[in-house]
Amino acid sequence: MPAPASPAAPELLHELALPWYAGHQRDLPWRRPDRSPWGVLVSEVMLQQTPVVRVEPVWRRWMTLWPAPADLAAASPGEAVREWGRLGYPRRALRLHAAATAIAGDHGGLVPPDEAALRSLPGVGDYTAAAVAAFAFGRRATVVDTNVRRVHARAVSGTALPAPALTRAEVALATSLLPADDADAATWNVAVMELGALVCTARSPRCDVCPLSAVCAWRLAGSPPHEGPARRGQAWEGTDRQCRGRMVQLLREATAPLPGDALRAVWPDGAQRDRCLDALVADGLVEPLDDDLFRLPGA
Ligand code: ADE
Repeated sequence: MPAPASPAAPELLHELALPWYAGHQRDLPWRRPDRSPWGVLVSEVMLQQTPVVRVEPVWRRWMTLWPAPADLAAASPGEAVREWGRLGYPRRALRLHAAATAIAGDHGGLVPPDEAALRSLPGVGDYTAAAVAAFAFGRRATVVDTNVRRVHARAVSGTALPAPALTRAEVALATSLLPADDADAATWNVAVMELGALVCTARSPRCDVCPLSAVCAWRLAGSPPHEGPARRGQAWEGTDRQCRGRMVQLLREATAPLPGDALRAVWPDGAQRDRCLDALVADGLVEPLDDDLFRLPGA
């Protein structure tokens, strides 16, 4: 077997990916010059588990309703859950509400620019802190999402897919690939993300139009298939997530508190629906009132 080619130098990857991004980036509202750091924070939380096309209308509505963190902090958590619509994983709405409250209370209403302060906000983890530091403030930060991990796995490590869960080695690799300059590093992060979303996709990579194809370690190795168990998408039918989603949707559409019987009627399996309603209450997504009545929290 021939020895694997050494991976392309980071500078070469930058020279190829940055001009590609300049010519191919999508015009997304949270990338426009007039977006605020708050808009970037909201977009990053929404985009973590939901595709761009579904996020865009909800993000626009949030920016109209709550143009600054203090505006969301002044609303109830239930309003945030209501306006989350059908983006899924609505605990993210509560996390944003908690972050907005901390920003309004402890940071003079302004999203802090540095990663450590961002990470100290409730519900803001490593990914979100790095993404906001990079995309809202032009800082050099290591941003690794699923798309970035796949591009690095292919272009640099020569494998079809990254490890099932983020490893320290991947973070170290991502950091080693960052351009030295702050603004270039921020653009490199979003360029790699965009490449993963538009070209280097999980199932049907478009290597023919990829700016990195000539230097891609995976392609140079003959595009070997993924070794190991097939990756399954997340199951939905019959899951607690589906049951919980129905209950929250019913409360979103309601104009007054609903009786527990109405919520329980959304699901046939009695044990599962009781467990799901209890979990929604424990998570703070649903507020129990007297007389077996329920509403979105504080709404
Ligand atoms: N632009 C900036 N961050 C993004 C993200 N997480 N997904 C898609 N586009 C983005």
